[in-house]
Amino acid sequence: MKNKINRRDFLNTTLKIIAIPSALSLQNCGDSGGNGNGGNGNENNNPSTSQINKPPKFAKNLLIPKLLTGTNFNLNIKNSTHSFFDGINTNTYSIDDGSGQMSYLGPTLKLRKGATVNIQYTNNLSINTTMHNHGMHLPSNIDGGVHNIIAPSNSFTANWTINQKACTNWYHSHLMDSTAEQVYRGLAGMTIIEDSESDALDLPKTYGVDDIPLIIQDKVFAADGSLDYSPSTMEHNHGYLGDMFLVNGVITPKLSVEPKQIRLRILNASNARVYNFSLGGKSFTQIATDNAFLENGVNMTSLKLSPAERAEIVIDLSSNFNQSVVLKDLSSGAEIMKINIDKTSITPKTTMPYALTTTLTRFAFDTNTPTRKFSLAKNSGPTGSFTINGVSMNKAVINQRVPLNQIEIWEVVNAMSMVHNFHIHATHFWIIERNGSSANVPANEQGYKDTVRVDANSSVKFVVKMVDYTNSTIPYMFHCHILEHEDRGMMGQFIVE
Ligand code: C2O
Ligand code: CU
Ligand code: CU
Repeated sequence: MKNKINRRDFLNTTLKIIAIPSALSLQNCGDSGGNGNGGNGNENNNPSTSQINKPPKFAKNLLIPKLLTGTNFNLNIKNSTHSFFDGINTNTYSIDDGSGQMSYLGPTLKLRKGATVNIQYTNNLSINTTMHNHGMHLPSNIDGGVHNIIAPSNSFTANWTINQKACTNWYHSHLMDSTAEQVYRGLAGMTIIEDSESDALDLPKTYGVDDIPLIIQDKVFAADGSLDYSPSTMEHNHGYLGDMFLVNGVITPKLSVEPKQIRLRILNASNARVYNFSLGGKSFTQIATDNAFLENGVNMTSLKLSPAERAEIVIDLSSNFNQSVVLKDLSSGAEIMKINIDKTSITPKTTMPYALTTTLTRFAFDTNTPTRKFSLAKNSGPTGSFTINGVSMNKAVINQRVPLNQIEIWEVVNAMSMVHNFHIHATHFWIIERNGSSANVPANEQGYKDTVRVDANSSVKFVVKMVDYTNSTIPYMFHCHILEHEDRGMMGQFIVE
């Protein structure tokens, strides 16, 4: 047990003493930065005195979620126990294919463009849940958002034909008001889409060997090793951050790879943390954004990902035999995973091409293109709800009606001094401006995206077109993917008609 100031109790006491006069003096709590998401530089931001000690870094091997291929999937959402700490079985939720192998998170589903898939989720929990197909282009009635509740002992089936490019997506709980806690306890998994373009590229493709899924999360664990999801009012406002970093459910793991090009599919599945990943200064090439390959690989040494964003990167480790590189988060200073280049080569070496795809569509727009504006804000007071365009999420209210096949510009304005992001269901978009200028859009964001970071006091414009699916009653969602914000109202609904 640690002997540290209990930050949550301290804050609660402070709130009581102040007795919430006009709550004006507490406005900072809801409206300021400093959640580590602007980089408060502190990875030991312990929210509780009674926490378990961190296990030694880089001691355990990275687990690779089981890979499922094909077109028919039967997944059980269930209570499980998972060994985050030696000798301790921590209660979790998991999504399992019946093999019993998944004790936290879910299997990776590999789907093919053009295939008709049938994904059945059965809820074996004693509480409601939903399962959203994040990044998928599919009809709203099987999107798995807040309207597709799966009651205990019930099933929900998503049945559709994959009609989008090769990419890395994911699936996760989207239960109204409880998404944060359900994802935190394990209800998330990765989805990979392959197509003829990805087939033709000379990229690392051996799942778990040179094509590695990395589901990255930060957590708080109580002294008994249980998952501690107990955000204070302040932590609700800023997003709940953990002090332990997990990859695929393993705290600060190690990974052995061959000396060759290695592909990492990075998913920020954290509730609230914005990462700025680095590989200790070693350069890497980003090859894909959320929903497709980039046109050309982008060489970089650091990569920002806000919650729900994905990036595929390739690192060339061919001259690093018997060396190691450490995946770090530059914002917090945390070391997350060590990659040891110590395996003998058995899988084919690849030579990644610079040009990846020539088939991305960037919708044409001009000054006559219809524009919608989304203002991200928060009602005053420490417990004030988050809002978009002045209103909080209400399942009974359709906030936007978007015509099918109409190219539109959506502008997202964050006038708060904390970072948010913005995600839309149904399709991808293309970022055209940050803070009023196209020059501010970095090369690694010039591709298909479904989630975009919106820094404090900044704005983002993207161009989007809803295609293929209409439904006059069942909406899709748009929201901030900082899950505490989403659960506190920073979400809205749109109908495509
Ligand atoms: Cu990742 Cu509305 O979801
Ligand atoms: Cu989504
Ligand atoms: Cu937010």
